Amino acid sequence: MLNETSVKEALGKVTDPMLGADIVSYRVLRGVEVQGDDVLVKLDIPTHAYPKQQLRELQKKIEDACKAAGAKRVTITSDVVTAYLPAPSDKAILKGPKNVIAVAAGKGGVGKSTVAVNLALALHRHGAKVGLLDADVFGPSVPTMLGAPEVPPQASKESRIIPAVHHGLKVISVGFFVDKEEAVVWRGPMVHRLLQQFLGDVDWGELDYLVCDLPPGTGDVQLSLSQLIPIAGAVMVTTPQEVSIIDVVKGIAMFEKVEIPILGIVENMSYYKCPACGHTDEIFSHGGGKRLAQEVGTQFFGEIPIDTRIRFGGDAGVPIVIASPDSENALRFMNLASAMAIKVAQNVLSKPKRSPRLAVIK
Ligand SMILES: Nc1ncnc2c1ncn2[C@@H]1O[C@H](COP(=O)(O)OP(=O)(O)OP(=O)(O)O)[C@@H](O)[C@H]1O
Ligand SMILES: [Mg+2]
Repeated sequence: MLNETSVKEALGKVTDPMLGADIVSYRVLRGVEVQGDDVLVKLDIPTHAYPKQQLRELQKKIEDACKAAGAKRVTITSDVVTAYLPAPSDKAILKGPKNVIAVAAGKGGVGKSTVAVNLALALHRHGAKVGLLDADVFGPSVPTMLGAPEVPPQASKESRIIPAVHHGLKVISVGFFVDKEEAVVWRGPMVHRLLQQFLGDVDWGELDYLVCDLPPGTGDVQLSLSQLIPIAGAVMVTTPQEVSIIDVVKGIAMFEKVEIPILGIVENMSYYKCPACGHTDEIFSHGGGKRLAQEVGTQFFGEIPIDTRIRFGGDAGVPIVIASPDSENALRFMNLASAMAIKVAQNVLSKPKRSPRLAVIK
């Protein structure tokens, strides 16, 4: 007998190919309607960055399951409803952004800002609403990497800050407001107040993801951020060689101490492939990121090679994801964005649902 209960029961056995769990307990299934032999299945896809091919695979599995349960015709509709955990009341200063993603590393110069900027742009290209907070108050590089804004930052009538818009991203950086020389003298309490302002007094609007580019190491910015807002997780960037890996291990330990989940590891500057002769050179060694991910039991998000266009894109204000969107390395950033967004969704959906009201009342 075909009815909503029998269809739901059948769909409870369908595993989501990206989330790796069944679509009922992970709330991907929003609802089912049955009319005679016709079944309508409504899905909530937890991120804009859900890969298209796997979505088709999921739809096929659902269709097959419904037909096995007796349906003649199956219609599937899907909306993206970004998965996130509402902030507890003591950390609710940030209004609008659903998931805050920290991009971090133990060491300087390994490509945090490059990854943060391209990751944010890749999420935006997937269709998400994205903001970028340059939390590197000591050496802000986001303004250079994104070039001149389409819309500069402004103050609203209520004296709130309206973020700049660059390539469709809402962006805030200390680099917009102070000289580079001034930025290096920030002390702990000043850093805390500044971040408080960037989080609470900025009109971010509704965002699926707010990507934060962090300074190197395990200092005041990391600590303040973790105290001020809930962070969905951290993406750790490393180069393949041992000196970088050792520092990332320290970074991971610090995030774990302040209860920020590690989403995964990206290995940047993995190798150099000569565009003229095709020869590959592993300048900073190879494979350290993957090994580390295995050792600490986190996901390996992939490798980004050394590419002149990545460096040039950062210097010229047009990052590779925008400048060469179909290049192999832009696609690596698109895949990184998908893997990261799926990991965030898995973390959220594996927890029992918490309603925003209950979270506020506590
Ligand atoms: N995969 C890459 N290929 C080529 N150049 C790269 C790559 N990744 C980063 N770079 C370049 O290396 C330099 C350092 O990168 P970036 O500023 O992103 O590092 P960072 O970790 O944010 O540094 P800091 O610790 O100073 O904040 C930049 O000039 C950037 O363009
Ligand atoms: Mg940086």
